[in-house]
Amino acid sequence: ARIRHYKWEVKYEFKSPDCYKKLAITINGRTPGPTIQAQQGDTVIVELKNGLVTENVAIHWHGIRQIGTPWMDGTEGVTQCPILPGDTFIYKFVVDRPGTYLYHAHYGMQREAGLYGAIRVLVPDGVKEPFSYDYDRSIILNDWYHKSTFEQAAGLSSKSFVWVGEPQSLLIQGRGRFNCLASGLQADTCNSTNPECSPYFLTVVPGKTYRLRIGSLTSLSALNFAIEGHNLTVVEADGHYVEPFVVQNLNIYSGETYSVLVRTDQDPSRNYWAATNVISRNRTTPTGLAIFNYYPNHPRRSPRTAPPTGPQWNDSDYRLAQSVAIKARQGYIIPPPLTSDRVITLLNTQNRIDGYMRWSVNNVSFTLPHTPYLIALKKNMTHVFDQTPAPENYDSASYDIFSAPKNPEATYSNSIYRLKFNSTVDIILQNANSLMNNTSETHPWHLHGHDFWVLGYGKGKFDPVNDPKKYNLVNPIMKNTVPVHSYGWTALRFRADNPGIWAFHCHIESHFYMGMGVVFEEGVERVGELPSSIMGCGETKGVYRP
Ligand code: C2O
Ligand code: CU
Repeated sequence: ARIRHYKWEVKYEFKSPDCYKKLAITINGRTPGPTIQAQQGDTVIVELKNGLVTENVAIHWHGIRQIGTPWMDGTEGVTQCPILPGDTFIYKFVVDRPGTYLYHAHYGMQREAGLYGAIRVLVPDGVKEPFSYDYDRSIILNDWYHKSTFEQAAGLSSKSFVWVGEPQSLLIQGRGRFNCLASGLQADTCNSTNPECSPYFLTVVPGKTYRLRIGSLTSLSALNFAIEGHNLTVVEADGHYVEPFVVQNLNIYSGETYSVLVRTDQDPSRNYWAATNVISRNRTTPTGLAIFNYYPNHPRRSPRTAPPTGPQWNDSDYRLAQSVAIKARQGYIIPPPLTSDRVITLLNTQNRIDGYMRWSVNNVSFTLPHTPYLIALKKNMTHVFDQTPAPENYDSASYDIFSAPKNPEATYSNSIYRLKFNSTVDIILQNANSLMNNTSETHPWHLHGHDFWVLGYGKGKFDPVNDPKKYNLVNPIMKNTVPVHSYGWTALRFRADNPGIWAFHCHIESHFYMGMGVVFEEGVERVGELPSSIMGCGETKGVYRP
């Protein structure tokens, strides 16, 4: 195993990813940041300098379980104090499994300002993957707003609530295209001839098989990805091999990664569109476009054909069917425990608290403590967060998930779930109607520190007697991010076998910011000595003095 050493400086810079100029957070001048390339078993070291001048930062390694290094998870308020302006923090962790992963800011809403990138972990030398391909490529999908994250965060957390609205553009590998002319903006603000926003192109050779690794780090949007005229064979999801299945287009939710195989078997005399379209929200954001460039055609020659439009935005049966189709690959199945020790049901609702708009779980809207949980629990600082156990369930007998909440008032809390070490835990994510009638949003839930088995999805209210009988205990896929579809439920199982404190939250940036998350503790007594570099905030000031 090798050491992969990276030196990054995080900074604000003016960027025009979709032709509109705004301040973006960059790593070494780029957004998306550099791709981390490693092999299974390697140690990744990222020396991160916070050059944001007036803002803290923290970076989370999304999909990396941090076994033995829970303090390197990069989750501000949970596993570390924020990195102060001017400071350098050294992240050091082992990438213990091959696969496609992501990294992104985990402080405030900085991810949507452009602080994100990809992690690609290859199999060790001599290990063969269960499928073959000629080339390996990756792209990150995103959505993009023109307002600053400050303005958005202020709007979300004020009594005169201002919703962030739909994004202005969809980006493919950091590039999109806003219609500057129609917007009437001056050329120094929005300029469609700026080369920074010329479409991303992926050059391919005819007659080959490409492994395309696709990750989504959207702030809000669920996306559908397609390459005009080409089928996609899904082979990997969140670092696990999938029993291959063929789709014309792929639904991908924020925080998910997939590998698809694409055969370049179409007419080689032209280019093709690669496109993203918003699904599950009534779309107003234009299609995101990149060019699938057949060599030797000019990479900037736009296809004359119409780009893929994706499925109907509100076709939730289509999305549910694709979610259900994702199974573990024969020969690579990690069987789940057949029973669980504990079932936690999490009702997802939109609520109000004292006139503020919030999201909550079992009527509790999550807030982060000023002292990170990991430090508080290791150092027995019981006064820094609410010690009441977080609620295991909601009143499912009387709650109508198909209507806006009758009593929309929720409470704030930073309470957590304490899991017995090595126990098996089931999570039922139950979706419901938001505050607006006839609306139930899709929420992609991401668990830090683990992969979970996806046991099942269903429509309507989860039935604790009959639905578990339909769980897939034979070949469930393991993932770290999973959607809970509108008015539906998703059932997960995981082993609480990774000592540490782990966030579990909706990956929609504004939803987590508005309280849609929970925290699990497991085996904290087994966590080794905490590094002093994670200290410095809240009650941890002076915990370690050299
Ligand atoms: Cu990718 Cu806690 O998130
Ligand atoms: Cu959400």
